[in-house]
Amino acid sequence: LNTQNAEFVLSAARLADCPRDSLPQIAFAGRSNVGKSSVINRLLNRKNFARVGSAPGKTTHINYFRIDRKVYFVDLPGYGYAKVSKQERARWGRLIEQWFADASLLTLGILLVDLRHKPTADDCVMAQWFKDSGKPFVVVANKQDKIKKSEWEPNLARIRETLALDAQTPVISFSAEKGLGKEELLGVILDHISA
Ligand code: GTP
Ligand code: MG
Repeated sequence: LNTQNAEFVLSAARLADCPRDSLPQIAFAGRSNVGKSSVINRLLNRKNFARVGSAPGKTTHINYFRIDRKVYFVDLPGYGYAKVSKQERARWGRLIEQWFADASLLTLGILLVDLRHKPTADDCVMAQWFKDSGKPFVVVANKQDKIKKSEWEPNLARIRETLALDAQTPVISFSAEKGLGKEELLGVILDHISA
């Protein structure tokens, strides 16, 4: 996969706007500010391709990027941001729910959590959506550069336990800032698109 060849496709506010051709779709989900856009940028070796928000909760649409004309990276809007209106939250819920209900859209799910923290109730709900989708998913524990090495293993174990992951679901330590975990995550992605 030539990650240098990446193009922005569209920003979908409604399910009807989402592409549904034969290309696989890799969806990035997670709390607002966890680093979804940053992880996509890191995978593509770009600085600000997927926009990294100055203010959290800025990604309100579903952003589609096409990589090497072979796969979509789908940047889902973040959840759990306190300063979002009730209407916005409801809109988010409807959009994501519809997106997950359309089984043709998802090939591989990527749930981003923060390696520093215990996953929130929202993270658990998101993990359940991925489980219910019946499609494979992987958990990426981001911001590894922000904690001490001695905390990595216990925090990874806490994430696995809190999200009640089965043995097949990988948890990858990641730092969008430093690039750690990039090759491992790209490897998982490649495994799921070279059908
Ligand atoms: P929304 O689009 O609002 O849902 O946020 P997002 O999940 O896309 O997060 P984004 O990529 O915009 O990153 C949020 C902030 O975290 C930015 O200031 C990033 O620079 C920072 N950040 C992301 N990943 C890392 C990381 O691995 N390490 C560190 N230190 N900072 C990170
Ligand atoms: Mg974002």
